[in-house]
Formats: sequence, structure tokens, C-alpha cells
Amino acid sequence: MSTLLRVDSSIRTTGSVSRALADTAVEAWLSAHPAGTVVRRDLGTNPLPAEAWALAVGAEHLPQDTWSPTQHEAVALARTLADELISADTLLLAAPLYNFGVPASVKAWIDLLITDTRVRPGSAHLAGKSALIVIARGGGYGEGAPRHGWDHSTAYLRRIFGDGFGMEISVAAAELTLAGVVPAMSELIGLGEQSLAAAHSEAAMHARNLAERLHAAA
Ligand SMILES: Cc1cc2nc3c(=O)[nH]c(=O)nc-3n(C[C@H](O)[C@H](O)[C@H](O)COP(=O)(O)O)c2cc1C
Repeated sequence: MSTLLRVDSSIRTTGSVSRALADTAVEAWLSAHPAGTVVRRDLGTNPLPAEAWALAVGAEHLPQDTWSPTQHEAVALARTLADELISADTLLLAAPLYNFGVPASVKAWIDLLITDTRVRPGSAHLAGKSALIVIARGGGYGEGAPRHGWDHSTAYLRRIFGDGFGMEISVAAAELTLAGVVPAMSELIGLGEQSLAAAHSEAAMHARNLAERLHAAA
């Protein structure tokens, strides 16, 4: 039986575009692979403890019998996160663009994961697995946009999960999600709607393809 690990990170639980894209992806994945299991981690509503990363890094070069109780807890949490990712066949990561980068909760998750030796860039535990990344951006960052190149989230996530962990990456991104909210962006509402519809189609298509591949291999 195959497993999809869904990781959300929007701080919103209502009206969240990245969560809606992830819902679409899960629905498509399950309809192509009904026997599959979906495991969830919600970094948006349940961020990891901010101090865990420094504690786990500090523990790395110390003998285990000298670790403090909080270091044991941090290392155990990193192991749980790594187990979760390694035991999944597919990662679905839903990430809003915050301040031109990934949510701090996603950075904290990745940093803590990498304290586990099995999830180091170049390690074989994740190589060949798939990651579907669904992204919501309030503005527009395409060719010719004033802020083209300011999205430092997508390239970073591709770098870590693709180049670093050797996963096969697909991306579905909705842009201009703030067009209906920010009066100065009102003329972009139509483009935002197009982008949203395309992102849902792409999320569903990628998820279906990934699930069909797993289903065929099962
Ligand atoms: C604190 C914060 C920072 C944001 N920073 C950016 C940004 O740098 N660039 C951008 O295009 N949109 C930015 N946005 C808008 C979000 O990317 C947009 O609302 C997106 O749809 C949020 O994801 P969600 O709909 O899943 O909650 C920001 C939103 C918040 C709340």
C-alpha cells in the first residue's frame, strides 16, 4: 500500500489557496489510487518548536549519554519527521509565499529533517521518490513582472527536494491570489482566476500521474 505525506504550512485554515490546491491533489491521488493512505502534518497550525533545530544540531557532536532531556526530545522529533518522510512514497508540500520565501515553519521542518543523517542531501533514502509542491503567491512573478525573480521559495524547494534529496519534483503554483483582496491589484483579478484554475488542473494532473505510477507498481 502506498502513502502520501501531505504537509501544509499556510497560517490560514479558511480561505487558504495552498490548502485548497493540496485538497485537489489529494482527491486526484486517492481517486487514482483508492487503496493509498494519506498521512498529514500541519506546520501552519502546529509549527515545530523553534528551539528543536539548535538542540538537535548541538547534540550531533556530543556523546549520547551527555545529551540533556531537551536534546533527546529534539533528536527524537527529527527522527519522527525523517521516518514520516522516508516511509512516504509521495510528498505533497503546500506552501504559501511569505516575505518572498518559504514559510518559517517549512524552513524549520527542512532544517530539522536534515539533522537526521538519513535525510542529508545526497543520501539515498529519498532518491527517486516524488514530491508535488503546490504553491500560493499573492503577487505575480512571471517573466516581465516587476518582481520577476523575487520568488525565493520555489527555487529553494526544488534545490532541497530535487537536487539535494534526489526526488522527482512537480510544481503547481497559483499566482495573484491577492488580486481580489488588494484594491491596487483589482485589474489583475481575471489573471488571478486563470492562474488559480490552471494550478488546480496541474495539481490534479500531477497527483493523478504519480498515483497511477504507484498503483501500476503495486
Ligand atoms: C505574512 C504574509 C507575507 C506574505 N508575503 C508575500 C510575499 O512576499 N509575496 C507575495 O506574493 N505574497 C505574499 N503574501 C501573500 C500570500 O502569498 C498569499 O496570500 C497566499 O495565497 C497565501 O497562501 P494561502 O492562501 O494558502 O494562505 C504574504 C501573506 C502573508 C500573510
